[in-house]
Amino acid sequence: MLMVETQSAVSIDRLSVVFERDDGTRVQALRDVSLDIGEGEFVCVLGRSGHGKTTLLNVVAGLIPSYSGDVRVLGKPVKAPGVDRGVIFQKDAVFPWMRVEDNVAFGLRVSGMPKPERLRVAREHLDLVGLRNVPRAWPRELSGGMRARVAVAGVFASDPPILLADEPFGALDYVTRRQLQDVLLSLWERTGKTIMFVTHDVDEALRLATRVIVVSNGSVVEDQAVDLPMPRSDDALATPRGLELRHLLLHHIGLE
Ligand SMILES: Nc1ncnc2c1ncn2[C@@H]1O[C@H](COP(=O)(O)OP(=O)(O)OP(=O)(O)O)[C@@H](O)[C@H]1O
Ligand SMILES: [Mg+2]
Repeated sequence: MLMVETQSAVSIDRLSVVFERDDGTRVQALRDVSLDIGEGEFVCVLGRSGHGKTTLLNVVAGLIPSYSGDVRVLGKPVKAPGVDRGVIFQKDAVFPWMRVEDNVAFGLRVSGMPKPERLRVAREHLDLVGLRNVPRAWPRELSGGMRARVAVAGVFASDPPILLADEPFGALDYVTRRQLQDVLLSLWERTGKTIMFVTHDVDEALRLATRVIVVSNGSVVEDQAVDLPMPRSDDALATPRGLELRHLLLHHIGLE
């Protein structure tokens, strides 16, 4: 019999993280988290404020080396950040001292791509996120939604196999947020990247994810496949199955 091995993009086994505050008190931010994310999945990590979402993402990003348990990305233990993972942070998603196109090209500069080529790739990606006209602008001249587009363009331009995003659209108005979700989904479908996307918003998770992991008090309390066809229109989300999933997720984050 032919065995097909599928590699995990991210595999987490009994991960715990304890932070020590300046006053000496200890906070257990993650407790015994186990989780396997296959290549090409779009996983939303859903949970209320302070429940450990950013901590989980940052461990996978390689920014919290003092964890206990086993955390691997593409089979290799995570000890530091790496070019296999692109990150969009909850705050400060773009560098304020770089023009838009230099922000988008930054990862390519780090990996040594010559300037004309990386600017070409940057402009291509600015086009894909609907920002064709502002390559030479400064981030401070852009709206929050435009800055979020710059951040999305930047990680896709660098083309890492895995994308880690921490509430990238959290501060945006409803319509802008919906537009950015569509941009992200079309880039995901185009590139087949593995995405781990943190959000506190049940509706955002249902619109984007193939699977939702609910984190509560530092533990995974639910791991739910979202078996709704893409793209997920409002009507698709208002079907009996859509509403059932919404109800279930709301329940797991502590409502109802
Ligand atoms: N560097 C740190 N030092 C001490 N405690 C920390 C540190 N980072 C996070 N914590 C604590 O760990 C817990 C989880 O924080 P985390 O930032 O992961 O939550 P979150 O789910 O991302 O919240 P939010 O939705 O508000 O961003 C909180 O109690 C927080 O105070
Ligand atoms: Mg957070």
